[in-house]
Amino acid sequence: MPAVVVVGAQWGDEGKGKATDQLGSRVDYVVKFNGGNNAGHTVVVGDEKYALHLLPSGILTPDVVPVIGNGVVVDIEVLFQELDALSARGVDVSRLKVSAAAHIIAPYHRTIDKVTERFLGKRRIGTTGRGIGPAYADKISRVGIRIQDLFDEKILRQKVEGSLDQKNHLLVKVYNRRAITVDETVEELLRYAERVRPMVTDCSLLLNEALDAGKTVLFEAGQATMLDVDHGTYPFVTSSNATAGGAVTGSGIGPTRIDRVVGVIKAYTTRVGEGPFPTELDDDMGEFLRKTGGEYGVTTGRPRRCGWYDAVIARYASRVNGLTDLVMTKLDVLTGLEKIPVCVAYEVDGKRFDEMPIDQSDFHHAVPIYEELDGWWEDITHVRRFEDLPVNAQRYVEHLESISGTRISAIGVGPDREATISRHDLLG
Ligand code: GDP
Ligand code: IMO
Ligand code: MG
Repeated sequence: MPAVVVVGAQWGDEGKGKATDQLGSRVDYVVKFNGGNNAGHTVVVGDEKYALHLLPSGILTPDVVPVIGNGVVVDIEVLFQELDALSARGVDVSRLKVSAAAHIIAPYHRTIDKVTERFLGKRRIGTTGRGIGPAYADKISRVGIRIQDLFDEKILRQKVEGSLDQKNHLLVKVYNRRAITVDETVEELLRYAERVRPMVTDCSLLLNEALDAGKTVLFEAGQATMLDVDHGTYPFVTSSNATAGGAVTGSGIGPTRIDRVVGVIKAYTTRVGEGPFPTELDDDMGEFLRKTGGEYGVTTGRPRRCGWYDAVIARYASRVNGLTDLVMTKLDVLTGLEKIPVCVAYEVDGKRFDEMPIDQSDFHHAVPIYEELDGWWEDITHVRRFEDLPVNAQRYVEHLESISGTRISAIGVGPDREATISRHDLLG
């Protein structure tokens, strides 16, 4: 099974880091293909807990080659902070490869991200403030800076000049901030050039040759389907393609090479930042999920908004990603509930929607239609075989599988690497 893509099926934080890490010992390459240090992936190995942002989760597995693809936006200062922090904990980070075509998050992107959010006021997106949107905006506007530009100071200076020209007008005249100088930007970017140079690779060539040689490559998405700039709840999205197609454009392999697409989905739903969320709970139940599930952002520490499982979103994610498998995480968090509501469709102004409404306004007004399933009380964190789960937990999973559009191949029952029930081999 050479090429496998792992994506988030909801609004992020589904447990992609754990799923990727678990497959780590059986894959040769782990490629991050979109996003940047807006991501926050938690990996728990024994007593050690790691929070990864820019780096692919495969960095924790000896022998795996972690790759940052061309679709990623790289804050080089953060890159080295993360690498140094892992090295200090004894992780060998020497295998990391970075695409020469990946774009750079410059200091002015971070500034613009923050001032724009402030300026938007009530209409803000609730971004992570890491400069992600402005860096991608420059990429699309063709005024971005790429990793390869770091090795030619003259070109770098020209590009920074070109990019800052307009931005300084905006910063000074609209946002009332000080102008950013070309010199300070170039100086900051060049600080890491020599350190990054040995990691720089033609990511497309590397991965195609690896696949030709029969190696296994895992593509790990940041963010998730509902945060995808094309398929998510626009404008309350991130600025990249977090769906499976992003693995192709963000790494330089062709779509025919992909064998499997795994969607990671929680047994309930969470979201960080602004935007519509039909099954959101503002009551004690929401608080229960947040407390029991430890639902606080890995990147910003913000409390996550929590709600019930939404099968309309699961079916949508199955469709836009072409999912072959679902990994359902955090089933253990639902232990102790008498009844568990599950959203099967929406009602908008008296009309039933079984699929995602095409009109965003309808989605904003969607009222969930719930089915209630029976809960269970037994601690399931030590269960490793599906048939050992309490019968109501089995029924919950089987019912969700029947309405979500994709088979559920693995079930998470705790944060630890081992705390998983496997039903179908994800690489077999
Ligand atoms: P990611 O961004 O998709 O990698 O997910 P995050 O790391 O942001 O959030 C997922 C959280 O759930 C982390 O704290 C994980 O340690 C934790 N987690 C993952 N799978 C499970 C599970 O099956 N049960 C429980 N209780 N926690 C889990
Ligand atoms: P992982 O990979 C959850 C959200 C932000 C905000 C919106 C845009 O850990 O699942 P951005 O800074 O990307 O411009 O913010 O997207 N967001 C995430 N939410 N998990 C993430 O990553 C996220 N990355 C961005 O909260 O609403
Ligand atoms: Mg996360």
